[in-house]
Amino acid sequence: MPLDLAALRRRPDFEAPNLVAVDATDRLLLDEATATLSALGSGHLAVIGDHYGALTLGAASAHGLTGIRVFQDPLVSELALDANAAEVGLEGTYAHHSLDGALVDGARAILLQLPRSLAALDEIAGLIARHAHPEVVVYAGGRLKHMTTAMNDVLREHFEVLYAGLARQKSRVLTASEPVDPPVESPWPRSQRHDDLGLAVAAFGATFAGAKIDIGTRALLDVLPEALPSADVIVDLGCGSGVLAVTAALRRPEARVIASDQSASAVASARATAELNGVADRVMVVRDDALSSQAEGSCDLVLLNPPFHVDAAVEPGIALKLFEAAARVLRPGGELWTVYNSHLKHRDTLESVVGQTRQVARNPKFTVTASVRR
Ligand SMILES: C[S@@+](CC[C@H](N)C(=O)[O-])C[C@H]1O[C@@H](n2cnc3c(N)ncnc32)[C@H](O)[C@@H]1O
Repeated sequence: MPLDLAALRRRPDFEAPNLVAVDATDRLLLDEATATLSALGSGHLAVIGDHYGALTLGAASAHGLTGIRVFQDPLVSELALDANAAEVGLEGTYAHHSLDGALVDGARAILLQLPRSLAALDEIAGLIARHAHPEVVVYAGGRLKHMTTAMNDVLREHFEVLYAGLARQKSRVLTASEPVDPPVESPWPRSQRHDDLGLAVAAFGATFAGAKIDIGTRALLDVLPEALPSADVIVDLGCGSGVLAVTAALRRPEARVIASDQSASAVASARATAELNGVADRVMVVRDDALSSQAEGSCDLVLLNPPFHVDAAVEPGIALKLFEAAARVLRPGGELWTVYNSHLKHRDTLESVVGQTRQVARNPKFTVTASVRR
């Protein structure tokens, strides 16, 4: 019996009646790729960016495919795929991979949920062009509101043939084939020196702000010397490229620093940034959902630049989840230093979730607060 996609769930990601586990893009991708998938032998499909498992499990169930190689940047997406696969008995049909050559090596078909950023798309498209079978067909789908013609341009840099399908339920699939001969070496991670900060930043495509330094991050860096100078254990929660963690390690040679993010790209970038600045031995980088692997009361200082501009329906929930995580891992008297857009009303939440919260800096764009764990 074919898999009922509607039965798939998002957990451990947020679940709510207005949040779906399977979107119109998943369904359109599976439909547009049907002929290719039904003629494909096992071991020749790679799935990239599967939100909660619809593409992987849909392809496995409808076409009897196994040996599907899957890359999902957020850890919660991996966990949701595993939970859904267990629920429907398709655990053995796929394997998780990093975003590297082995993911797409010799693959003849790729199902791709388009990433939001062009840099991420460039990294993925270049990887496929370098490693997949020369006759690979890439089905890249997205929501119309998130798609731009610049995405077509990025795909055209890596593939000779690009075809835009008809939109359906506000989604569209781009089909790319005939990889352009790419350079043998990957241009990722990209790096940039920031002499004013005495720091070099390395970043893979999907990492927040790339190798640049976000202005919110800068606001937190400006006041970093004031943040609990006695701290022995410092956690950079949602570390992205590792700017905060690596700066802390450079400026506080005695401290132990943990950089943590649920994004595979961010974690790889933070490791590369730590190496670039010679502090890889003092920055422990962990891929983790909201510090779940860190013990309660185990650290003195948490630095946090929480995500914004994500799906408006889940944004307040993500910030709250990260505040709760910080409160859990901080020892009493430890501090959470947070930077956020000044229009956001985080201060009351910080006060109730963590403890007494003071404003450290504020300009029309950003506010930095320090919350003392009660
Ligand atoms: C605004 S970015 C900040 C990145 C970096 N600290 C900086 O200032 O450049 C927020 C980061 O939080 C991460 N993030 C979001 N949800 C998370 C979660 N549940 N657990 C860990 N990290 C998370 C994102 O992947 C992203 O890298």
